[in-house]
Amino acid sequence: MSQDKATAKSTNETRPKGVQTTGHVWDSDLQELKNPLPRWWVWAFYITAIFTVVYWLFYPAWPIGNTYTKGIPGLNSITYTATQVDGTQVEKTTHWNMRAKYMVEMNELHAAQRQWFDKVAATPYEQISQDAELMQFVTSAGKTLFSDNCAPCHQAGGQGVIGFSPNLTDDHWQYGGTYEQIHETIVQGRQGYMPPFKDVISDEEITQLANYVLSLSGEPHEAEAASVGAKLFKSDTTACYYCHGVDAKGKEGLGSANLTDKIWLWANVPAIKTQEDKVKEIKNIISAGLNRGVMPAWDARLKPDQIKLLTVYVHESLGGGK
Ligand code: HEC
Ligand code: HEC
Repeated sequence: MSQDKATAKSTNETRPKGVQTTGHVWDSDLQELKNPLPRWWVWAFYITAIFTVVYWLFYPAWPIGNTYTKGIPGLNSITYTATQVDGTQVEKTTHWNMRAKYMVEMNELHAAQRQWFDKVAATPYEQISQDAELMQFVTSAGKTLFSDNCAPCHQAGGQGVIGFSPNLTDDHWQYGGTYEQIHETIVQGRQGYMPPFKDVISDEEITQLANYVLSLSGEPHEAEAASVGAKLFKSDTTACYYCHGVDAKGKEGLGSANLTDKIWLWANVPAIKTQEDKVKEIKNIISAGLNRGVMPAWDARLKPDQIKLLTVYVHESLGGGK
């Protein structure tokens, strides 16, 4: 008995401070401590369990064979308008899911944009550019339309790539820079054509013409050859003047390049160092002609109001419109 007392005393002393025991003791001093979980933790646990059951009721949850529980209909359903492949619109009701929620948000966004597109469609070009609020919409919606449809060729900022697609940010317009001309370019597309001359005139004549073309934009050239080239350019043998004009400034109806403006689309003259190679570059174009660049027609791909908006975007926001 006295020994038991001593044991109890010693166990009491070795017990960690502040922790209760269940009162069970083995081997004289081995005790079971009582450490209940914090109350908040226990409640959080119960709440997650309840949440789980509620979630099963509301949302798709359990797989059953080939299908799954879809939640209680009406509690979680979501209705949206979907456009089908053939363009018709149908109302769809489905259980809540991210895709349906995305569709609802897109539809709301389109409805909000709709009134702006309608305003663009109803406003004359010149007035759109005066309306700061409308221009804000044109610039942001135009940027998206441009990067989706035009940037793959004309680059994100519309600056183009020599040898591939024209720069739309400068003052130079092969097909004209008025609203109406830009609109026509986008609606019906463009493809400039220049015939090959290698079988029409001699290599020497091609060299003389190339020197003349270089002289027009102040590039290094052979003056004597250029002056012969100038005559050839205006002769009926080559008929260069017929498409490019006697002044070589190009004709918008044909999209023939202005050869005097130091802006190049197909001949990458600025990137070439030596006079010899510059001559060679122009000679290649005169010899082979041009049928490379295709500006696709967009009338079947974009809606009329989208094309009108892009016209204003190219004319105003990219700059350089006339
Ligand atoms: C497949 C590449 C391609 C795509 C896509 C494209 N373009 Fe073009 N675009 C061209 C080429 C190439 C030319 C020059 C055609 C030529 O000179 O024969 C051109 C010419 C133009 C011109 C005339 C430039 C001038 O100097 O007169 C405009 C304006 C234009 N594109 C706007 C657009 C817009 C707006 C879009 C988007 C809806 C677009 N392009 C999409 C390749 C493309
Ligand atoms: C049938 C009309 C036609 C005739 C004739 C013609 N051209 Fe062209 N030329 C064009 C067109 C159109 C383009 C622009 C092609 C395009 O952008 O797709 C062009 C482009 C060029 C270019 C490229 C300019 C650049 O920016 O890279 C040069 C150089 C040129 N022509 C020189 C000549 C010379 C020299 C002659 C006479 C030997 C000539 N052309 C005859 C229609 C013509």
